[in-house]
Amino acid sequence: MCGIIGVTGDEGALETIFDGLRRLEYRGYDSAGVALVDQGVLWRERAADGTHSVEDLVAKKAAPPSSRAGIGHTRWATHGSPTVANAHPHVDCTGRVALVHNGIIENHAELAATLADQGHTFTSETDTEVLVHLLEDELASGAGLADALRTTLGKLRGAFSVVALSTSDPELIVAGRRSVPLLAALGQQTGLVASDVSALLGRADGYFALDDDQVAEVRPGSLRVTTLDGREVDPTVVTVDPAWDVVAAQMGGFCDFMSKEIHEQPRAIADTLLDRRAGDGSLVLDELHLSPDVLRAVDKVVVVACGSSFHAGLVAKYAIERWARLPTEVVIASELRYREPVLHERTLVVGVSQSGETLDTLEALREARRAGARTLVVTNVVHSTMAREADGAIYTRAGPEVSVASTKSHLAQIVALDVLALALAQWLGTMGARAVAAVLDELQSLPAAVADALGRAKEVDDVADALLGARDYFFIGRNLGYPVALEGALKLKEISYLRAEGYPAGELKHGPLALVEPGTVVVAILDPLRDKMRSNVAEAVSRGATVVAVAADGNPDAGGDHVLRVPDVADPVLAPVVEVVPLQLLAYALARRLGNDVDRPRNLAKTVTVE
Ligand code: F6R
Repeated sequence: MCGIIGVTGDEGALETIFDGLRRLEYRGYDSAGVALVDQGVLWRERAADGTHSVEDLVAKKAAPPSSRAGIGHTRWATHGSPTVANAHPHVDCTGRVALVHNGIIENHAELAATLADQGHTFTSETDTEVLVHLLEDELASGAGLADALRTTLGKLRGAFSVVALSTSDPELIVAGRRSVPLLAALGQQTGLVASDVSALLGRADGYFALDDDQVAEVRPGSLRVTTLDGREVDPTVVTVDPAWDVVAAQMGGFCDFMSKEIHEQPRAIADTLLDRRAGDGSLVLDELHLSPDVLRAVDKVVVVACGSSFHAGLVAKYAIERWARLPTEVVIASELRYREPVLHERTLVVGVSQSGETLDTLEALREARRAGARTLVVTNVVHSTMAREADGAIYTRAGPEVSVASTKSHLAQIVALDVLALALAQWLGTMGARAVAAVLDELQSLPAAVADALGRAKEVDDVADALLGARDYFFIGRNLGYPVALEGALKLKEISYLRAEGYPAGELKHGPLALVEPGTVVVAILDPLRDKMRSNVAEAVSRGATVVAVAADGNPDAGGDHVLRVPDVADPVLAPVVEVVPLQLLAYALARRLGNDVDRPRNLAKTVTVE
């Protein structure tokens, strides 16, 4: 996720862009940049401070130009590390066109190869830079900037929103999108575009939303919108809640970051999956930096992680063992260091960490490297210490996660680990190309399934109302349902402060059943071993527990006092991605009813850099 902005007809264009970038910074902040056309010359400044790049950029401006039009960007890196060279805006070989981009260009490698053959020089590692060279080619063949953008967007696969300007028409900014939001706004003598309304508030008389594959031509006080084939269309008018201030707009109408981030999960999963397929349909992992030969030699996988990331690792064990047939151990990172683990050059140690900074996981990875193991990190932060130190990385593209309790990063981790498991299966030859492609297709259906699960929030709210007052919870599951149970219990205890234990359902009778009494709530993840789960649920029912069953739509006999249905997912290995959703919503609903601050739960920090 990144934030983009374009401004025209504004005497204080530079300040408006800086202000917009500050408002968009919650979408990403590891680098930032601005470009303006000033007296026929393109002026650009960029910064890559890592955490406060917008302020770093503002401090850098040497001589503010007198331009009335410009574009700006605040970045959360997905392709290429957060360096100044990778920061947007990107500029073409002639230095006359600049462009900013939010999203992922799936076919960037093919396009870049062709452009390089034609003599274009690339100066960054980003997927974005191909766009500006494609624009350059179109302009060289006599097209205007808007035509050039329409043609360019028609060549792309992926999800994106872009804004561009050129020296040839300095008061024109052009913008387009597919699957990534982009708004336009008009003032009396100004025009703006931005990733979201927070950057536009107070600066416009009217707001418009671009639809997929539309291009906006924005001039001072005027907006023209066309489809990619040049047909003019009426832009969709957007009504902005008059009560919204910048913070409310950044929340997008949600009460807090946690619920916003829960609802961003379909996008986070879709983005994590973008760009993973080559032209022939096989799986590619650009950022891995480990050769297939090295990976083919791997004979054991050890996953190290903490908290929710550990639970994602537990799900991955099923995927790696089932698809790649590699023995897989999942270890709590703080437990690995002091136990003399058996690791060697054929062991692949995978660190899973949203932040990429958690000290326990970082030290476990360092220990693994010292022992000669290959290390890989699955992280949400491209410039994190783990990403820099590990041999390879797979990035979850969930965007910044503000709420302390992990939600969207957790689902993105499971999906990224599924992709790793498939890649290992492909390289080791344990799955054929068609079987890999079939699972990839299944993965692509998950964003819609998660959106469906989110659409059932009302049912979860009703269950939360019925449970209010209960203080003791057991979350139980078997097989792939077990990590789901652990994650449900962790979410509940973190933000509601209720006692919640996650247990393998078969273990209940070996001790914890002694604690079950009338008033205890047992949340049972019924799938995939629904027949075995039935007897575990019966054990709880006969002790007077209130049972909440989490069951797929196709599960015919979901008993229990309450049932939370989730959409069917054909491959059971992928089902945890949808089953976690009602548990996140349940924890959230109970915590809100108890009056807790869900974004900043007591005693917890987002990034834990102590042992
Ligand atoms: C749970 C949660 C924590 C983190 C854990 C690891 O909601 O947020 O349990 O999962 O602290 O953090 P990362 O993934 O940053 O290593």
